[in-house]
Amino acid sequence: APVVAAVAQPAVDNVIELLVPEALRPAKLAEAQSFPSVTVSDVDMQWIHVLSEGWATPLKGFMRECEYLQSQHFNAIRLPDGSVSNMSIPIVLAIHDEQKAQLEGKTAFALKSPEGEIVAILRNFEIFVHNKEERCARTFGLTDERHPYAQVIYESGDYLVGGDLEVLKEIKYGDGLDEFRLTPRQLREEYKKRGADAVFVFQLRNPIHNGHALLMTSCREELIARGYKNPVLLVHQIGGKVKGDDIPLEVRIAQNKRVLAEGVLDPKSTLLGIFPSPMLYAGPTEVQWHAKARMNAGCQYYIVGRDPAGMKHPNGERDMFDAWHGKNVLRMAPGLESLEILPFRVAAYDKTVGKMSFFDPSRADDFVFISGTKMRKFASSGETPPDGFMAPTAWKVLVDYYASKK
Ligand code: ADX
Repeated sequence: APVVAAVAQPAVDNVIELLVPEALRPAKLAEAQSFPSVTVSDVDMQWIHVLSEGWATPLKGFMRECEYLQSQHFNAIRLPDGSVSNMSIPIVLAIHDEQKAQLEGKTAFALKSPEGEIVAILRNFEIFVHNKEERCARTFGLTDERHPYAQVIYESGDYLVGGDLEVLKEIKYGDGLDEFRLTPRQLREEYKKRGADAVFVFQLRNPIHNGHALLMTSCREELIARGYKNPVLLVHQIGGKVKGDDIPLEVRIAQNKRVLAEGVLDPKSTLLGIFPSPMLYAGPTEVQWHAKARMNAGCQYYIVGRDPAGMKHPNGERDMFDAWHGKNVLRMAPGLESLEILPFRVAAYDKTVGKMSFFDPSRADDFVFISGTKMRKFASSGETPPDGFMAPTAWKVLVDYYASKK
């Protein structure tokens, strides 16, 4: 039978933040005025955000070629002490030919936000060729330009530049959601404040239905059965760029708040947060990044279910990835060896009891699978999902969103 799994690893304590201490910023900013500059994209800004807060520790900036090659070929990078750190996704900065020409012979340059403000310095940098097709093939297992993140890559420059990043500004969005964007350090402080003796995390890019909630509440029960007294759950929404038909962040957060308010998840032991990374749709390759970054944020258990970070093939004919490769890869991933698996079954709607339950293959006909695509279709056509699929006021958030788009 298919299983859902949660995994555990001791937390990494030394998160490397690349945000320059406030007192040093004015001098660095003055220095940066004299450097050549590169204006970055919104997605680049999301990676600067990720790097600045230490989610990608031990990276000290955008990847140099040796890190990029290790990431692409081994999904991990070797550290000076010989140990291996999981790093499955290239965190790189692409530049165009004119920008490369401007940086030639220099040792540092300034990074400007799309609005033209200096936000960071990249020092001791190295420029190397950006083979986009090879990067897409190795990251996504396809080179199709219709894939949402492949599109980002194909539209970017022909060179990559890696080096030491000094971020001169806290990245804020002013969208009313910054309070949910806790850094790895702030999250650790929050767990302490709540007296957590274990932290488990649920990565998602979707609204929460009762099947998702079942995984989370079952994981909590399992941890309590193991003797933990106060396991805290981090519900962690992807905050960066998602594909066009995914639901916008503010709608997902509003929906998630309703799920807590309705008590589907216990508000006392649940923390709602935003993970600043863009979504790559790289399946088993990406789920390693999702787990690794959360371990940097002090989480010990990572819930993974069916087809994490997956999507339909851009040709519309099949899913890009095997639904269980994500979970299987995670338990073997280099640099995540101490992962521990807590097996669950896949969640589906059980018609006999009118709620989301773990799928029982011996009575398969009693179950209905409601995919993300199907859920979005229901909400946009105003069709009501079966009772017990989602908390009613949370469902209404989705219906209102689709109505507002019409
Ligand atoms: S993801 O791209 O962020 O991984 P999504 O938001 O769809 O996607 O899923 C969040 C988590 O829930 C992932 O770990 C995924 O594997 C899991 N999941 C989603 N739906 C189900 C389901 N019906 N049964 C079991 N696990 C599921």
